[in-house]
Amino acid sequence: MRLILLGPPGAGKGTQCKRIADRYEIAHLSSGDILRVERAAGSELGQKAQSYMDSGRLVPDGIIISMMIDAMKKAVGEYVLDGFPRTVVQAEELDKSLAEAGEEIVGIVNLRVSDDRIAGRLTGRRSCPQCGAVYHIENLKPRVENICDRDGEALVQRADDTPEVVADRLKAYHEQTAAVVGYYEGRGKAVIDVDAAGGIEEVTASIFSKLDVLCSQVG
Ligand code: AP5
Repeated sequence: MRLILLGPPGAGKGTQCKRIADRYEIAHLSSGDILRVERAAGSELGQKAQSYMDSGRLVPDGIIISMMIDAMKKAVGEYVLDGFPRTVVQAEELDKSLAEAGEEIVGIVNLRVSDDRIAGRLTGRRSCPQCGAVYHIENLKPRVENICDRDGEALVQRADDTPEVVADRLKAYHEQTAAVVGYYEGRGKAVIDVDAAGGIEEVTASIFSKLDVLCSQVG
């Protein structure tokens, strides 16, 4: 099953993609995570992306498309895409690449949540620099404050989770990414709307029940 998870920053894409990947035994390919690994490694790609990410703007399509198509080709088995595609141009190029490989996306999960719920989720997010596990200071606390449950590393806050950058990321979402939903609807793809305003477990249950139906339909 190849899936895409769409939604604004802080909708819970990363949180839910990890759970989807575990349940359906598929890979989780996150454009944001790949970019952060490239930045940490100081690669040319990471350096090119840095100023865009720090200011809440989208990294140019040309950089992202080749990076993600390469990640998809290297993935073992099927996958859920997190954070990609984020523009209509990216969606068109993804479609072309899939068609060339004789593959297709079977479902698009669209997490819906209003802007006023986002700020608290993002400014309270903490993540593990070692394993990438994501927590929240109120909604998903680690067992020991500020320490990763899995490997004992001190948790960190993302540099783009400040109120100012979050506002710019939301602006980029509304101006450039929201249209991707319409792109897929226009092509007759199964777009599964999920209300992501509730708690994490509630959202997971809603996604799983809808994906289980999709799974039984696609076999
Ligand atoms: P990226 O890393 O993809 O950031 P994003 O889309 O802004 O999404 P986030 O990771 O911030 O949020 P999320 O939806 O995954 O939420 P999470 O599950 O962590 O991209 C970063 C940057 O890279 C972009 O700004 C851009 O510059 C660049 N980039 C990436 N992809 C690109 C592309 N395709 N094209 C161009 N540029 C690209 O949850 C957030 C917090 O909320 C967590 O603490 C979590 O515990 C908590 N939480 C989650 N769900 C709930 C819930 N239901 N209730 C309460 N709390 C919750």
